[in-house]
Amino acid sequence: MIVEELKLINYRNYEQMNLKFHPRLNVFIGDNAQGKTNLIESIYLCSAGKSFRTNHDQELINMNKKQAYIHVKVKKVHSDVHIEVRLNSERKKDLKVNQIPLVKMGELLGNLNVVLFSPEDLKLVKEGPSERRRFMDREISQISTKFYYTLSQYNKILQHRNKLLKYNKGKEIDIEVWDEQLAAAGAWLIVYRRNFIKKISILAKLMHRKITESIENLEVIYEPNVKVKENDEVDVIKEKILQNLKENFNVDKQRGLTTCGPHRDDMILKINGLDVKTYGSQGQQRTAVLSLKLAELELVKGEVGEYPILLLDDVMSELDSKRQHYLIHNLKSVQTFITTTMMETLKDLKPEDRAVFYVNKGQID
Ligand SMILES: Nc1ncnc2c1ncn2[C@@H]1O[C@H](COP(=O)(O)OP(=O)(O)OP(=O)(O)O)[C@@H](O)[C@H]1O
Ligand SMILES: [Mg+2]
Repeated sequence: MIVEELKLINYRNYEQMNLKFHPRLNVFIGDNAQGKTNLIESIYLCSAGKSFRTNHDQELINMNKKQAYIHVKVKKVHSDVHIEVRLNSERKKDLKVNQIPLVKMGELLGNLNVVLFSPEDLKLVKEGPSERRRFMDREISQISTKFYYTLSQYNKILQHRNKLLKYNKGKEIDIEVWDEQLAAAGAWLIVYRRNFIKKISILAKLMHRKITESIENLEVIYEPNVKVKENDEVDVIKEKILQNLKENFNVDKQRGLTTCGPHRDDMILKINGLDVKTYGSQGQQRTAVLSLKLAELELVKGEVGEYPILLLDDVMSELDSKRQHYLIHNLKSVQTFITTTMMETLKDLKPEDRAVFYVNKGQID
């Protein structure tokens, strides 16, 4: 798919902006704090319904204004899709796809598929399991709305169960109905995540071999908190979760929260058999994340039938010239958006192969 046009009104430091994009490569170039990432963020917003930098939509609206408007036109193989987001400081945001208002956020997913790679993504290797769960969940949600709804349901049930445990410490509580529902939704989460990791691990391994010239072997391993076998069916997984919830009930009661279940899942990255988080060099960690992101491109292509768009925010300067070259020259079928402060990135790119946008204080020169 291709983002053909972007229109912004009162979005961050943009008052009014209309841009038409190149089908292959688009470069946003400029000094720090001019509005390069804001452009990437606005495109991402039309894909995910929220920013990747903040959970507060208010921050996206220009400081001196009360409303903001974002519109992208996406060209797909079989159709054109218009996505509109209206942000309002006094009420919830309005989303429209092809002029039809959306009732739930889940309806937006899948209209525009994006893969974002920014320096923040290093957290995926460096930080705790919640970053890796977020990665799995965001990526599965963009290819399966059923997963997205099951996850929201699971989180709601979990909140209820935790409240019950927290406010009834030392008292008898009837938790079984909640356990039943939690296990039913949780079992599906495990099935989806297991399936996703199975696919992405194969693609990431291939990708990593390619970028490291076969020197390194990357493994991506799913680590569910409730131990399940590779071929366990959903009913079996549900029983296993129920069993775990029962066994941990006294601990849960003491601590006032649910200590087992898919909300504690993790994913491990290994290079040549060693955990990248503990043993990987800075460069290896970066390359592992890059391989994972490039694997996502292929995974979405396989699931959706077209490549997603690729958003690269501030990552060029962090990659060596070989990897930079790969991103700029090898992804011929993927529309790519790059932010950079250096002209260097553009050298040996033919003018007809890209569009360059000089970003200066919320204006494009
Ligand atoms: N709600 C807002 N209203 C007005 N201006 C805003 C708003 N939010 C952010 N900005 C301005 O946007 C600018 C930052 O934009 P952005 O993050 O896109 O910079 P950048 O060009 O990517 O910079 P860098 O190279 O440092 O990453 C800042 O100057 C900031 O003051
Ligand atoms: Mg930036």
